[in-house]
Amino acid sequence: METPKKIFLIGLFFLTAGGWCIGAEASPALVQEKQCDTCHRFSKNDAIKSAPDLFFSGDKFQKEWLENFLKRPGTIRLAGPTRDPGFLKGKPQYTGPHPALNSKEARQITDHLMSLKTLKDLAPLELPELSKGARVRVKILFERDYSCIACHQSYNLARQPRGGISGPSLIDAGRRLRTEWVYQWLKNPKQFVPQGRMPLYAFDEETLRKMTQYIMSHKKEPENK
Ligand code: HEC
Ligand code: HEC
Repeated sequence: METPKKIFLIGLFFLTAGGWCIGAEASPALVQEKQCDTCHRFSKNDAIKSAPDLFFSGDKFQKEWLENFLKRPGTIRLAGPTRDPGFLKGKPQYTGPHPALNSKEARQITDHLMSLKTLKDLAPLELPELSKGARVRVKILFERDYSCIACHQSYNLARQPRGGISGPSLIDAGRRLRTEWVYQWLKNPKQFVPQGRMPLYAFDEETLRKMTQYIMSHKKEPENK
């Protein structure tokens, strides 16, 4: 009568150990279960997919924004993502709505996404607030000299969103993106999206920092979220 008990105990052990392993792997498994990887790449080595890449999420996003987005997704690319097969025709295949997660799933997947990084250490970048004059000068660069506004939405003086829709909207960039990532992106967007449509600008260091700070100053009012 000893053996069945032993088998039961061994069985119980494997069940529990299996449970632990699944626990550790829960987020990637959840990503598959929710089919996030049918549209997004979670590794550089996957074939190109139409939705934005997520394998550098930990470099790019602010955690709080990410978790909220997964629960209540909104539209960032008003003309659809640039790699959507219908993008150039102005008729994206993807028309949403984006799948939404419950709080527990959102937390798990956020933790997983925040662990995905391509840059080893993004040293913290503390940028001083722009003075009024500096802000006006960067705004002129953004709108006229570099025509960023042709592709990106930003705020006008009356805090109304305006601008082109072929690039991601920047009107909540200050809550959505990490300063360090924006700085790296502006330095060279190709290090993240080699086949992207964003032009390469050769900013000097001062302009790079001011432009980063200008973008990070774009925040939606919390009540509009
Ligand atoms: C049917 C395709 C599809 C599926 C499935 C899908 N997504 Fe998305 N996702 C998109 C598209 C398209 C966008 C871009 C939306 C926009 O910019 O307005 C997006 C945007 C995002 C963003 C913001 C990315 C950025 O750079 O702005 C995150 C994060 C994200 N998705 C995570 C997920 C997760 C996690 C799942 C699984 C629960 C998932 N997605 C499932 C198509 C999809
Ligand atoms: C010709 C259109 C175009 C112009 C002009 C342009 N961008 Fe972009 N930008 C894009 C596109 C498209 C993306 C999305 C990346 C991709 O997938 O190619 C992007 C991405 C970005 C991002 C990252 C946003 C995200 O969520 O991924 C920032 C920040 C940005 N641009 C800032 C700027 C600034 C600052 C300028 C001007 C100095 C500028 N862009 C000019 C098209 C443009």
